[in-house]
Amino acid sequence: MHGHWSSRLAFILAVAGSAIGLGNIWKFPYIAGVNGGGAFVLVYLACVFVVGLPIMMAEVLIGRRGRRNPIATMLLLGEEESGSTRWALIGVLGVFAGFLILSYYSVIAGWAIAYILEGASGAFANIDAAGVGEIFSSLSGDWLKTSFWHSLFMLMTLVVVSKGVERGLERAVRILMPALVALLLLLLGYSMIAGDFAAGLRFMFEPKFSELTQAGALSALGHAFFTLSVGMGAVMAYGAYLPSETSIMKTSIAVVCADTAIAILAGLVIFPIVFANGLDPATGPGLIFQSLPLAFGQLPGGIVIAVLFFLLLTFAAWTSAISLMEPAVAWLIEARDISRRRAAWMIGGTIWVLGFFSVWSFNILADFKIFGRTVFDNLDFLTSNIMLPLGGLAIVVFAGWVMCRNSSSDELDPEAGAGYRAWRFSARYIAPVAVVLIFLNAIGLI
Ligand code: PHE
Repeated sequence: MHGHWSSRLAFILAVAGSAIGLGNIWKFPYIAGVNGGGAFVLVYLACVFVVGLPIMMAEVLIGRRGRRNPIATMLLLGEEESGSTRWALIGVLGVFAGFLILSYYSVIAGWAIAYILEGASGAFANIDAAGVGEIFSSLSGDWLKTSFWHSLFMLMTLVVVSKGVERGLERAVRILMPALVALLLLLLGYSMIAGDFAAGLRFMFEPKFSELTQAGALSALGHAFFTLSVGMGAVMAYGAYLPSETSIMKTSIAVVCADTAIAILAGLVIFPIVFANGLDPATGPGLIFQSLPLAFGQLPGGIVIAVLFFLLLTFAAWTSAISLMEPAVAWLIEARDISRRRAAWMIGGTIWVLGFFSVWSFNILADFKIFGRTVFDNLDFLTSNIMLPLGGLAIVVFAGWVMCRNSSSDELDPEAGAGYRAWRFSARYIAPVAVVLIFLNAIGLI
């Protein structure tokens, strides 16, 4: 039987724990940097609120109605609402996307763990831009070290999943997330004083649409899904444990706002440091690892701050990783009738092996490219920019068009008349049309 979250706050914290992770602090600044800043940020924000929010609500309501793992839920509701079993494919696609995402996510989380030790060793003291570049490339270029850290992170993740996600997660998120925000605010203070804050602001908020390519717009859309953890059933799996009296709308809005605020905060910390030190904003996946240590190196108590920061980042990645693995594990337990422990080890083991291709994308396989991209980049592109938006599109079409009105209004606040109508309109028209337009644009049809 399924467990229950102990309260509405517990659910918010779990979904926030899933949403807030490397996507906000590592990925958002790096892809905003690669895609020229302002215009990308604007499209990303629009996608988060116009597309991501209604899809998150759709996922939670479907999850709570089905009360099973995402595949079984889609099978059940699909049959109930349309008589077709084909909707289960959404669940299958999602479980598979979670697999692929976690395989490379774990690699970056491994870097974060390695940086806890780098920070503790005092290696960042008074370091300059060349120095941070060296530390980063000697880590990411070392396949043995990074294999080790990736393995450790996968082990941490599967241990929690094997125990059941409701336990422990709640208390930890409640304390550690505010700590992460506090630390980011402290770093924001540093960036305002010692960084080129004006240049950072201009980069992030001055939209230059000439710099935004079609591929850039697609990755803004993809990132909206990635950062909110929607489109693959993670939120659906958590929704399955949600008590029926909780307001889905309020909860989702809270999570989306918190997630967005943290991403913007991370950007406001990082870009001023980037510009003050002559770094390239388009550095790529190493951006935070090559900019933040400059701040740690100059701050009084920098060693403690660096250690705390990378600890909290690892923690944020951990709570997201757990949610990436949960749909697959929940499915295996229910489908094969095996213990949670066994399922966690089987799924975790497979993802761990797959992850080596991403570990090696930064060293021994760095020159092995398919479509001009490394394995790591391909996995990221395929999952964030294609699988999540397609999964999300299918979910929102299901919730808006296939589910009958009574079913969805039952789950969303029955009292919130205008809110419900706004959601249904977005789910039926705005979100699907936006996703389709950005896709068509990306392949050059419009
Ligand atoms: N949202 C997480 C992050 O921003 C990543 C994630 C994606 C988690 C999809 C679950 C599902 O880091």
